Amino acid sequence: MKIENIEFEKGLFLAPMAGVSDVGFREVCSNFGAEGCYSEMLSCRAMLHNAKKTELMTISSKEEKIKIGQIFGHEPDIMVKSLSNPLLDKYQIIDINMGCPAPKIVKNGEGSALMDNIPLAKEIITKCVKNSSRPISVKFRLGKDKDISLDFGRMCEECGASYVTLHARTAEQGYSGKADYDAIAKLSQKLSIPVVGNGDVVDEESYTKMLSTGVQGVMIGRGAMGRPWIFQEIFGNKFQEDKFEVAKKHLEILRKYYDEKWLTLYMRKHFLWYCAGKECSSEKRLQIATSQDLDKSLEILKQVLK
Ligand SMILES: Cc1cc2nc3c(=O)[nH]c(=O)nc-3n(C[C@H](O)[C@H](O)[C@H](O)COP(=O)(O)O)c2cc1C
Repeated sequence: MKIENIEFEKGLFLAPMAGVSDVGFREVCSNFGAEGCYSEMLSCRAMLHNAKKTELMTISSKEEKIKIGQIFGHEPDIMVKSLSNPLLDKYQIIDINMGCPAPKIVKNGEGSALMDNIPLAKEIITKCVKNSSRPISVKFRLGKDKDISLDFGRMCEECGASYVTLHARTAEQGYSGKADYDAIAKLSQKLSIPVVGNGDVVDEESYTKMLSTGVQGVMIGRGAMGRPWIFQEIFGNKFQEDKFEVAKKHLEILRKYYDEKWLTLYMRKHFLWYCAGKECSSEKRLQIATSQDLDKSLEILKQVLK
């Protein structure tokens, strides 16, 4: 897959995941083969006010092969302004979030609400494309409550998007049900820009199924939680080395940037994901879930993963 002069060898993307895809996670996923790494979604309005939280979310690693910054908003001019914010300088591609179903985003007319407001979605994409020297992509869902992905994808293409990503569920579905791979196949057949397929890729079998839709790229989200090695395992290369070392490295990267107190709470979920599928007593799980000490959590994780 090639986007302007940006070459993807395998077209493999780590999904944007707010509160999950931190710089440490992106780095370890990159080491296992993720090529395009998305930032967590960045508020254009917050960037206008130089919000510290947003700045922290833009910390990135030199290990990330292709850095993609995902922005969200509903005010075209503010979104255009954010494109020249130095915080976004590190990204080679800018993606616009038009798929987030979270109520606090939708109530502002952002994320998936834009699939229900085509004139505004059009204006945002057209203006961002016109005012960006970098490729602009759009990530969206099937629609609000029914499948309008083909028309929406065509609109993105007409407005100048360089590629699109389809998470093949409606906003109303949230994460329930199965991603509709037929809709992904239809979109990739009809558009002339590349389509990245997203939804439910968790192993070699589902990766192969996603590829059979004809997409040029595949994006993995939840399948990578606690399993960053999925990016090699989808090619049949089982990761049999030290999983604990991967989790430890994830934490070590974050320790360079974030304070210990915040990290202690933040890492609980990641550590629990690393334990999934492993023998781990409910007592150990509880200790991790309520931990006030990162090194103690690491020690438990070591016992579970070794
Ligand atoms: C915790 C979490 C946070 C997410 N945050 C974002 C986000 O910030 N931007 C976005 O476009 N999608 C977000 N998503 C959706 C994912 O990018 C992806 O589209 C979805 O999880 C389906 O892919 P999967 O089945 O591989 O997980 C999020 C998903 C999860 C589970």
